[in-house]
Amino acid sequence: MKDRTVSTFKKRTHTCGELRKTHLGTLVTLTGWVDVRRDLGGVVFIDLRDRYGKTQVVFAPQHNQLAYETAQSLRSEYVISVTGTVEDRPEGTANPELTTGEIDVDGTELTILNKAETPPFPIEDDIGVNEDVRLKYRYLDLRRPSMQKSLLIRHRVYQLVRKYYDSLGFIEIETPILMKSTPEGARDYLVPSRIHRGEFYALPQSPQTYKQILMVAGFDRYFQIVKCFRDEDLRADRQPEFTQIDVEISFADENDVLKTVEGLIGQLWKEVLNVELPSTFARLTYKDAMERYGSDKPDTRFGLEIADCSSALANSGFRVFGETIKKGGVVAGFAVPGLANYTRNQLDGLTDFAKSIGAGGLVYLKCNPEKVESSVDKFVSSEEVNAMATAIGAKTGDLGLFISGPWQKAYSILGSLRLEMANRLNLIPEGKWNFLWVMDFPLLEFDAEEKRYVAVHHPFTSPRPEDIPLLETDPGKARARAYDLVLNGTELAGGSIRIHDSELQSKMFSLMGIDTEEARLKFGFMLDAFKYGAPPHGGIAYGFDRLIMLMTGQKSIRDVIAFPKTASAVSLMDDSPSEVDKKQLDELHIRVV
Ligand code: AMO
Repeated sequence: MKDRTVSTFKKRTHTCGELRKTHLGTLVTLTGWVDVRRDLGGVVFIDLRDRYGKTQVVFAPQHNQLAYETAQSLRSEYVISVTGTVEDRPEGTANPELTTGEIDVDGTELTILNKAETPPFPIEDDIGVNEDVRLKYRYLDLRRPSMQKSLLIRHRVYQLVRKYYDSLGFIEIETPILMKSTPEGARDYLVPSRIHRGEFYALPQSPQTYKQILMVAGFDRYFQIVKCFRDEDLRADRQPEFTQIDVEISFADENDVLKTVEGLIGQLWKEVLNVELPSTFARLTYKDAMERYGSDKPDTRFGLEIADCSSALANSGFRVFGETIKKGGVVAGFAVPGLANYTRNQLDGLTDFAKSIGAGGLVYLKCNPEKVESSVDKFVSSEEVNAMATAIGAKTGDLGLFISGPWQKAYSILGSLRLEMANRLNLIPEGKWNFLWVMDFPLLEFDAEEKRYVAVHHPFTSPRPEDIPLLETDPGKARARAYDLVLNGTELAGGSIRIHDSELQSKMFSLMGIDTEEARLKFGFMLDAFKYGAPPHGGIAYGFDRLIMLMTGQKSIRDVIAFPKTASAVSLMDDSPSEVDKKQLDELHIRVV
């Protein structure tokens, strides 16, 4: 049979990143976008771009008059097809910045496949354009080299993840997007049912319940690269829809889960970044992470470690210290090397910063050569001030910063101050990969507003066996078998060993103020499944977008997602969310008020 497809343009023989000196003399056809056009003394130079690179094409009237004249009409982003011969570049004109920089193509045929309007910004890196404009014209933004690179790395990581888990006997199973709401802590996105008036599906915040049920179903090693949806306040590392690598393993303990994660991360860093990581990552308890770094996702690339000064101040006559400690709070701080010369103005600025993140005030001391001088000299003895300086290891010339307050609050504020100072002093080194496991999170925290406990991780997380009795006596003290993987201060993954016993699960629900009826309504399917032989199991989920953000050195996950939303959850390109027809709403039995 005859091939009936007719091509109206010449198909490319090579990509724009491919030609080298070995191709000299070859007649080639390239297709792509006009990157720049330069008219120089009767010759037109075009940089032709596709996702593989750029090639310089030269049009001269003596090669082909028509092609030369057409080339004069080219504008940036026109789509063209060019045929010509690969030539050596004249002495001294090679461009080492381009992989194809040693050759150019003498164009003899040129077809304009499509014209383009002048783009709102140049297609190059470092354009300094407002992000909203980039998002509105995302198809142009995605042509820029750094965006192309990020999406290529993203692609490569998908393939390596699948290869890795497959090689370890994990199987990939898809779980529903329209599902029953799961209690992961954020607000659900809801989808109204047309058929069932007044009823809603929820989009998954994660496939948590399904993957646990897959364990009951006997698929002892599961993984999935999966979209998750959370209606929460957005930030640079949070999107309303994002991607997880979701993993669950039966008959596993913490070490089994952590080992598979360390294995994958090690391979990704080796194969994509050519970096050799240690085969295991450091582990820190949640308590230590908070007390040393003021964060459950500490950035350990720099010092400024926090120390507790409470024991030296327990009997302080200064109420802000003495009373706080008596009530179970702490006074803690850290030393900032070499900043004893900070001015009053700078310190006032820091105090304002501390107040803006919830501090009642900021206490500081300066280790001057002659004596240690503090902002509370009027209220605190010189012995106490000296003890504070000693506790944080401050040396002559250093500044000490202190917060007093309830444990969680004081350390969290210190954690933010620590980061602020590191940024101000440029203390965070580039090129360091500080992976860290944070373990032993609290199982529950008390929600004073709702007057009930809520799960710190999620309600299916197992307590440490030795802490189970605490569920009766002091639930807030029980530790969870939960772990987070942190890289350079970003939470990259989180997971836990799960409860596989329906009685313990019911106990957890009751502590969280979920009565039997509500538990049945919300998780009856899960409690039922657990009656039919649930194996012990545990797992983890990695934030895929965050992983790619860190691997590509980007500052926002928006830069590694093809079509992200803005901080107010809007897609500027296709203008969603948007209103819908009344007819659509009627079908869904919905009235907008
Ligand atoms: P968790 O809620 O900790 O755990 O989420 C796992 C990882 O997903 C990433 N992540 C996000 N990334 C971008 N935008 C968001 N809005 C967002 N929210 C979370 C983070 C985080 O570490 N079901 C459990 C996992 C388990 O227990 O196995 C869960 O979803 O990198």
